[in-house]
Amino acid sequence: MSSSTSAVPAAQPVSSGDAVVKVTDLVAGYLPGVNILNGCSIEARKGELIGIIGPNGAGKSTLLKAMFGLVKVHSGTVVVRGQDITGLKANKLVTRGVGFVPQTNNVFSTLTIEENLQMGMFQRPKDFAQRFDFVTSLFPELGKRRAQRAGSLSGGERQMVAMGRALMMDPAVLLLDEPPQASLPSSRTKRSCACTRSTVRGCP
Ligand SMILES: Nc1ncnc2c1ncn2[C@@H]1O[C@H](COP(=O)(O)OP(=O)(O)OP(=O)(O)O)[C@@H](O)[C@H]1O
Ligand SMILES: [Mg+2]
Repeated sequence: MSSSTSAVPAAQPVSSGDAVVKVTDLVAGYLPGVNILNGCSIEARKGELIGIIGPNGAGKSTLLKAMFGLVKVHSGTVVVRGQDITGLKANKLVTRGVGFVPQTNNVFSTLTIEENLQMGMFQRPKDFAQRFDFVTSLFPELGKRRAQRAGSLSGGERQMVAMGRALMMDPAVLLLDEPPQASLPSSRTKRSCACTRSTVRGCP
């Protein structure tokens, strides 16, 4: 994926100094000498939703994984709220306000829905009840079925659990890898969005 690959900015441009997340010239890949990202740059400002569109194998998931410290970054930077977070591991990123919903393997399938949401809060367990109320107000099904094992859910329902888990920590930036429409919060919330491909969200 090169920097020209279709990162589609929202319609209202604002100054780049307002970026909640800014990726600059990212070069990254899984194997030494084989780069999947070859100078990828995107940015999202507060409240913006950025869609990343490309064919299968283009590197959309790789970009999000590189931003979330799951793929080795060879050069370039990822800055979140003015802090360089390039290469930091996922647990550190969560405490710095970054949430990630993977495309696959995105729930703890032997745990219940409620336990999956608890996993999202393991670094701030005292706030669990309050965040659980918030997340289940976005996704009422998760509250109603809190005792159900995540492994018995459909793919879209698992995405809902994964998104709920990421939202438990109230992230400033939410990285969503191919969220299906069915897993998006209801339209009454301002966090709702309509997208069918990988997205980066600078949350309000
Ligand atoms: N764990 C891995 N090890 C080595 N190569 C990988 C790994 N994961 C992905 N790749 C390769 O990286 C390239 C980009 O894959 P990626 O998953 O980022 O594509 P994508 O744009 O998300 O595709 P899709 O639309 O199918 O989800 C592909 O050529 C893929 O084979
Ligand atoms: Mg993908």
